[in-house]
Amino acid sequence: HAEHREQWGTRAGFLLAAIGSAVGLGNIWRFPYIAYENGGGAFLVPYLAALLTAGIPLLIMEYSLGHKYRSTPPTAFLRLSRPAQAIGWWQVAICFVIAAYYAVIIAWSFVYTGFSVNKAWGDDPETFLFSDFLQASDAPTMDLSYVGGILVPLIVVWLITLGVLAAGVRRGIERANKIFIPLLLVMFLALVIRAVTLPGATEGLNAFFTPDWSSITDGSVWVAAYGQIFFSLSIGFGIMITYSSYLRRRSDLSGSAMVAGLANSSFELLAGIGVFATIGFMAANAGVPVGELATSGIGLAFVAFPQIISNMPAGELFGVLFFGSLAIAGLTSLISIVQVLVGSVADRTGLRRIPAVLIVGGATALVSIILFPTTGGVYLLDVVDRFINQYGIVVAALVSVIVVAWLLRQLKPLGDHANETSAIKLGLLWRVTLGVVTPVVLGVMLWDSLRTELAENYEGYPDSFLLGAGWCVALGALVLGVVLSLVPWKRGQQVTEEEVQ
Ligand code: PHE
Ligand code: NA
Repeated sequence: HAEHREQWGTRAGFLLAAIGSAVGLGNIWRFPYIAYENGGGAFLVPYLAALLTAGIPLLIMEYSLGHKYRSTPPTAFLRLSRPAQAIGWWQVAICFVIAAYYAVIIAWSFVYTGFSVNKAWGDDPETFLFSDFLQASDAPTMDLSYVGGILVPLIVVWLITLGVLAAGVRRGIERANKIFIPLLLVMFLALVIRAVTLPGATEGLNAFFTPDWSSITDGSVWVAAYGQIFFSLSIGFGIMITYSSYLRRRSDLSGSAMVAGLANSSFELLAGIGVFATIGFMAANAGVPVGELATSGIGLAFVAFPQIISNMPAGELFGVLFFGSLAIAGLTSLISIVQVLVGSVADRTGLRRIPAVLIVGGATALVSIILFPTTGGVYLLDVVDRFINQYGIVVAALVSVIVVAWLLRQLKPLGDHANETSAIKLGLLWRVTLGVVTPVVLGVMLWDSLRTELAENYEGYPDSFLLGAGWCVALGALVLGVVLSLVPWKRGQQVTEEEVQ
């Protein structure tokens, strides 16, 4: 008998979904600026080192965990040891927090795709963004006054996401990525080709690539490189454990991790070229140095780009390509995060897919819709994003590596498991990078951000706001994880390896 666990249809389908999860907003609006700020062309050295000594090894560990135990994080860690289950639930709680705000940025991107057509932002995109579109309050508040222009698209984003998940791993997630990823690639390539042929593009590219070799000896540059790799590969909070739990028994784990990691980095490099060529055009147009226009995040996507689009011949099309790419890249990532929630609860309760999507996905959507399309939503998003990244993901990744590698001594058996079916064999090098390099680097990153946090308030937010939206949310995820691990779950559908054979 044994209720069949869902499976990917093909290896390519799994890879597309894994790449779709990794390639997100971070590739487009985070990497280009981080690289530019931290040595330009020379940043590639610490960046590649981070990819090879921490990113891909950790990716392989997550693939192996999910594949070996054929389970989402709570059950996978439970199989390692009963108390370790808390790590899995902690990762689930982090995914819950991230999903709630990540969806909001996707909603903005969809709306801005439409805004591009008539350049709805007028000649002051910054005022338009904060006053007209977000209707942001002057100071961070938690009062729930809704902004209809965000509420409605946010509901649509959630309906799409839950619709895809309800259709299942193969017929929903895999199929959606088979459409979205090629579409994203075509749109983004068109954007990059247009960008590099703009007048002034060369200046931008020079600014992006010119190496500042002195940066290589700067510790903070290395912290930035590892930070970008962890964020960009979305490792440390269970997404890849979840996706690889739906792999077939004979699957190439280390090879797949390599492909997904390299594909994500290639997309980042492409985005760096596109973004800086575009900024170079604007700098030439406005007669200012590239450095004056280079930024990241919301400021880059929703202020600088609208400005540039308004000043560009056929900017409408460029805008549609840019915001459309942002929306699609984000959507495929959101789908993967929410599947962690849905899959984890389904595995531990035995709940079937559709009820799990409705209950767990629905609850996440509800929290997202209640909290974020509000006049204080943008501040909440900003602070939650910062704290869940620095003190949720990083700490959870650190704890999971220490527990798996040192407390439970599971690297050898996990590596052996991967080696049974993988082309690239894992040996001592893998165990050393994962057991030593990764925890050391994560520890340094944590120390580094804690120091900054204590030195000055993030972005000058008031203490009370940082306490409530930052520290409480990050710690809350941990507490929630521990509490959920104490719930006496019904065993549910736990298909063991023997049953699958
Ligand atoms: N890795 C994604 C990126 O580069 C970000 C992400 C965060 C994806 C959280 C999934 C979950 O943008
Ligand atoms: Na990424």
